[in-house]
Amino acid sequence: MAKKIIITIDGWSSCGKSTLAKQLATALGYVYIDSGAMYRAITLYFIRKNTDWSNPAEVKEALEEIVLHFECNPASGKSEIFLNAENVEYLIRDLVVAEKVSDVATIAAVRDFAVAQQRSMGLQKGIVMDGRDIGTTVFPHAELKIFMTADITIRVERRFKEMYVKNPNVTLAEVKANLESRDYIDSHREVSPLRQAEDAILLDNSNLSIEEQLDFALKLVAKKL
Ligand code: CDP
Repeated sequence: MAKKIIITIDGWSSCGKSTLAKQLATALGYVYIDSGAMYRAITLYFIRKNTDWSNPAEVKEALEEIVLHFECNPASGKSEIFLNAENVEYLIRDLVVAEKVSDVATIAAVRDFAVAQQRSMGLQKGIVMDGRDIGTTVFPHAELKIFMTADITIRVERRFKEMYVKNPNVTLAEVKANLESRDYIDSHREVSPLRQAEDAILLDNSNLSIEEQLDFALKLVAKKL
C-alpha cells in the first residue's frame, strides 16, 4: 500500500489554503479537514447562545454542549461541517461569524477542544489539514508543511468575490478590515499564534494559477513519498 502522510497548510486569512488543501486531497485520495471551520462553528454556537466568552465557566459549559463532525456532501464531493447534527457549512462563512472568530480562537479552552479532535483525525494519516497552527501545534511532526501567503490586495479581492455571491451588500472595505483584523489577532495571540514552522515551505501564490499552485505542492509531495 502507498505510504500515507500528513500534510499541513497554514497561512494568512484568505490566501487560498482551502483551495490548495482540497486540490491535494482530491489528487492524492486523502481526507481534507478545514480546521478553521471548527473555530467558526464554535463561534456560531457562542453567538447563538449569547455565550459570554470572557467568562471561562460559560465557555466550559458551552463547549460541553458542542459536537462537531464533518460529512462528505455527495453532490459536491466536499466535506462539510456539522454543529450538533446541523449542517452549518454555509452559515459559518458569514461576516457575522468572521468578525468574532479570531477572538474566540484566542481562548485556550476552545483551542484545546479543537486541537484534541484535529489530532484524532490525523491518526490514520492520509490527511490534508489547513489552518493557522497545524504545522506548529497540531501536527508538529507532519511529513509535509506548507505555509501560504499572498498579497493583501489579492486576498481581499478573492474573499470579496466569494462573499459577494452570497451577500451583495458586503463591501470591499468590510472584507479588508476583517482580514487585517483577523491576521493581527491570529499572529499576536498567546496560544499557538500564526507563524511559519521552521520546517515549513513557503508558498506565495499571489501570481500563481490554481493549476500552478497544485503542481508546486504535488512536487513537494512526490519528494516525501
Ligand atoms: O479561510 P480563512 O482564511 O478566512 O479562515 P479560516 O481558516 O476559516 O479560519 C477562521 C479563523 O479561525 C482564523 O482567522 C483564526 O482566528 C481561527 N483559526 C485558528 O485559530 N486556528 C486554526 N487552526 C484555524 C483557524
